[in-house]
Amino acid sequence: MKAIVRVEQLQKSFGGHVAVNGVSFSIDAGEVFGLLGPNGAGKTTIVRMLTTLLRPDGGRALICGYDTCRQAGRVRQCIGYVPQALSADGTLTGYENMLIFAKLLGLKGVERERRINDMLHFMQLDDAAGRLVRNYSGGMVRRLEISQAVLHYPRVLFLDEPTVGLDPVARKGVWEKLEELRHTYRMAILLTTHYMEEADTVCNRVGILNHGEMVATGTPLELKEKMGDPAASMDDVFTHYTGNQLDTEGGSYRELRQVRRTSRRLG
Ligand SMILES: Nc1ncnc2c1ncn2[C@@H]1O[C@H](COP(=O)(O)OP(=O)(O)OP(=O)(O)O)[C@@H](O)[C@H]1O
Ligand SMILES: [Mg+2]
Repeated sequence: MKAIVRVEQLQKSFGGHVAVNGVSFSIDAGEVFGLLGPNGAGKTTIVRMLTTLLRPDGGRALICGYDTCRQAGRVRQCIGYVPQALSADGTLTGYENMLIFAKLLGLKGVERERRINDMLHFMQLDDAAGRLVRNYSGGMVRRLEISQAVLHYPRVLFLDEPTVGLDPVARKGVWEKLEELRHTYRMAILLTTHYMEEADTVCNRVGILNHGEMVATGTPLELKEKMGDPAASMDDVFTHYTGNQLDTEGGSYRELRQVRRTSRRLG
């Protein structure tokens, strides 16, 4: 099958610091690919290069066959992007946020209304559409941000830490919607995550980054089997390839950072 995302030897440095070092991978249509790695591994930098927001120093990335540097406009038409930071306006209603995105996409009249209402319904936000977003729960905000990003039914959707700071029920709600998008529209989805359970449950394949290098790729099952221990978990896989101990429950820095980030996001 022809890959819809093809990344070849991507390279990016900031000053003297190599953030992404010769990374290659590909994603097929209808596939969810998870990019894993410790803080600072280069996940967001890769996403920003693939979404045309950052120019690579070397290598190339093709999305739907278009080069992210030479054909950036074409690439933008076939992707959706939910960034790590908040992308919905809390002072507007859900519907108003959707309207802004629809106008940016050049949608008009009856078609615009239909797409907005269809997507709000798909994401189970119809009842909340008239309420200010600052009164939404974290899960609702995330579902709204995803709705905005897919109004034009992109072939590829990029999500940078889509479930950070969400409670387990809200996370599951986001996962279910991503699975429906993948299944219904055959979207390819690239997400970054720190949650190994999410990688295991949601992703068809994952890539593990460490210090800017892709140190492993495969299905969660393949990577676990490679460990040679039938009881191996994705946590074990992550620790094996990155040398990083995952933070445990109870007030770790990562949790604090995530909670802070979420409270900042929600305002
Ligand atoms: N604009 C920038 N200027 C300078 N350095 C940067 C910039 N963006 C990223 N970096 C550096 O590049 C490295 C990779 O950062 P990146 O944000 O891609 O990591 P990440 O894997 O997304 O981490 P996190 O899990 O914390 O989100 C880090 O060392 C970071 O400090
Ligand atoms: Mg990041």
